[in-house]
Amino acid sequence: MPLNRLIIQQFRNIKACDIELSSGFNFLIGPNGSGKTSVLEAIYMLGHGRSFKSSLTGRVIQNQCDELFVHGRIRQPEANNDQETALFLNSDQFELPVGINKQRDGSTEVKIGGQSGQKLAQLAKVIPLQLIHPEGFELLTDGPKHRRAFIDWGVFHSQSAFYDAWGRFKRLNKQRNALLKTARSYRELSYWDQQLATLAEQISEWRSEYVAQLGGQAQALCQAFLPEFEIQLKYYRGWEKDTAYSELLENNFDRDQALGYTVSGPNKADLRIKVNGTPVEDVLSRGQLKLMVCALRVAQGQHLTQQTGKQCIYLIDDFASELDSQRRKRLADCLKATGAQVFVSSITEHQIADMRDDKGKMFHVEHGTIEQG
Ligand SMILES: Nc1ncnc2c1ncn2[C@@H]1O[C@H](COP(=O)(O)OP(=O)(O)OP(=O)(O)O)[C@@H](O)[C@H]1O
Ligand SMILES: [Mg+2]
Repeated sequence: MPLNRLIIQQFRNIKACDIELSSGFNFLIGPNGSGKTSVLEAIYMLGHGRSFKSSLTGRVIQNQCDELFVHGRIRQPEANNDQETALFLNSDQFELPVGINKQRDGSTEVKIGGQSGQKLAQLAKVIPLQLIHPEGFELLTDGPKHRRAFIDWGVFHSQSAFYDAWGRFKRLNKQRNALLKTARSYRELSYWDQQLATLAEQISEWRSEYVAQLGGQAQALCQAFLPEFEIQLKYYRGWEKDTAYSELLENNFDRDQALGYTVSGPNKADLRIKVNGTPVEDVLSRGQLKLMVCALRVAQGQHLTQQTGKQCIYLIDDFASELDSQRRKRLADCLKATGAQVFVSSITEHQIADMRDDKGKMFHVEHGTIEQG
């Protein structure tokens, strides 16, 4: 579901921007510091409710301004059977307006289909996004929280009950950790642990199913980008195999109490990624790591389309960094084949020359001004 139109106001160095977009490739070309990443950051905020660069909204709102706005119009397919967007549309509407406003005091207002007070999770449902940026290989090289977020993106979009279940699990887990500090025996925890265990098993099952389904697609794309390597994805659910979570909580009570928190569980889950049997970070070069991240993210997008009919939007920042021209072309061809909307930032037109086609649109970015041309 592509964005037809994008309006950005008071976002970093972008005072005001209102552009009509291509449903295919949109190129953002401009010198360092001109505002290319900021455009991608604004679109990301529309789909995630936050920036991918800064956790402090105050840094993102334009200096000397009190608030920022990002609005978009999402084109709907003529035969729209997507329940998420159907909630907000009349049958004769083929564009869904969405918007986010953030204030310096930290408050956020989300509007979907002209209705205020909507939830960020709802916005995320209607704008599935995939970001590929120069620091993106933290997915492969850093801690498990990045890979949990990767799995949970897919589960969030494929299991409607996941978001609530995961929220309830996190709240119960926090309560358990507080109780561990005062409990005199396991009996005081057992009632809560039964609820926690039911949620944990369900969440793990969804995640495991998702990884199993994604595996084939991820392997095929890695094969296309990095034919010399064979990727292996293995889901680790966060606690020992063959042990029920309720049993584990009871068995580990003394240890958890001594440490003051619950050591094992779905909040420790990971996706173990190896190539040719060795952890990726020990084998792949930076460019190869970037290609593997691209393969995994494009695989997620393809899988989403297969499962739900939804297209995700790809944001690719600093397209040329670390990729040689042959690899750039391969990635571009692969994205084109998905038919998805893609935003690509690059310093020069030369670096994206291979990707241009009749459908694509070029935007020149300079000092926070975005002009089509
Ligand atoms: N809160 C803010 N208010 C105004 N300007 C800001 C704010 N935060 C950052 N900037 C400026 O906005 C610009 C943002 O640039 P951005 O990161 O989008 O550039 P870019 O075109 O992606 O550059 P590069 O090619 O170096 O990646 C920078 O010049 C930065 O100094
Ligand atoms: Mg940039």
